[in-house]
Amino acid sequence: MTKWWEVPLTVDAAHPIIREAAASIRAGETVAFPTETVYGLGADAGNDEAVAQIYTAKGRPSDNPLIVHIGDRSELDCLIVESNSLADRLMDAFWPGPLTMVMPAVPGVVSHLATAGLPTVAVRMPDHPVALALLRAAGCPIVAPSANRSGRPSPTSARHVRDDLYGRIGGILDGGQCQVGIESTVVEVVGDEIHVLRPGGISVEQLRDALPDVAVRAAAETGEAEVSAAIAEAGESPTLHDGSPRSPGMKYMHYAPRGRFAIVHGSSESEVADWVLRRLLEERRSGERTGVLTFQEHMPRYPADQIDLVVDCGSASNPRSVAFRLYDALRQFDDAGVTVIYTDCYYGHDHLEGEAIMNRLRKAANHHIIQI
Ligand code: TXA
Ligand code: MG
Repeated sequence: MTKWWEVPLTVDAAHPIIREAAASIRAGETVAFPTETVYGLGADAGNDEAVAQIYTAKGRPSDNPLIVHIGDRSELDCLIVESNSLADRLMDAFWPGPLTMVMPAVPGVVSHLATAGLPTVAVRMPDHPVALALLRAAGCPIVAPSANRSGRPSPTSARHVRDDLYGRIGGILDGGQCQVGIESTVVEVVGDEIHVLRPGGISVEQLRDALPDVAVRAAAETGEAEVSAAIAEAGESPTLHDGSPRSPGMKYMHYAPRGRFAIVHGSSESEVADWVLRRLLEERRSGERTGVLTFQEHMPRYPADQIDLVVDCGSASNPRSVAFRLYDALRQFDDAGVTVIYTDCYYGHDHLEGEAIMNRLRKAANHHIIQI
């Protein structure tokens, strides 16, 4: 049985529901909880059996390490070997918040299952009252991947968690909808540079604004995007030039709706919309259930009587609104049994704020981009 707790956003660590959920974590159970990015599936970071349950519940490959969540900066001391001034400046600027730091780990503190054998550990302090209350009440670091079945879109509401994991986990804390909507940005300090390993809730632009004197390398520059694209094709391990894995999760197919899904890009909006409409009419005639994922501004281009499901993914001029809706939008196609989906949502490589969205869309589409 999976417990279901509804919690107000005003909770603190002394709230009876939080204490009950924290006791479950301490007892070695898994509990899903809201963060500002997506829902996480939490377990006591030092408990091998509890961590193993996360991998089983999600169906997650065991070589993909987990992020350790903390409720207080002081917890870092026992997790990492040492910090440095650049890492400290990043944490000062963005914690609590959607930034995950990969740092050298103190061996033996976090379960080896959670670090997947790497000498580093990924740590973040989430900016959500329920997550912080749970972390403080549990009094231990909590590992938490996104609380979805592996490969599915990450959950941005408790209902998404229930749809994927009910009956497979100890409990779900329902704290409403996640405000950021996509996962944290994963970074590593390498010498005097900051390398983005996974684009996410903090954009490269925000990192550069906060640390104007520091070189920030975007995921594409550090080779991660190319590496993950090549891997999706070849099914190989992600290695960079020195042969070491950077952010192992980047190699897996992710966030995918069940239907066939492709990104369509072209020089003009009307050209793309005409192409998509024509193709979907053909698909519909051959018995498919058809769908379009589009920006709010393009909605009028897709008549609702000609396509089975048209989903508004927020305004193109406001990438935050797109991130907020993206995963729920992808799940809507599954809920409606859509079998073929096209999206015209597209931000170019120079669009720093759109980088994380395109990263997720490309993976959801298994890198299938149709250039017309
Ligand atoms: O926003 C988030 O980060 C959410 C919420 C729940 O906090 N969590 C999340 O976890 O997205 P997950 O497990 O879905 O993604 C963790 C990512 C993976 O890409 C993984 O490879 C990377 O972090 N990662 C974890 N430990 C790492 C390490 N030591 N070195 C490099 N990458 C690491
Ligand atoms: Mg995930």
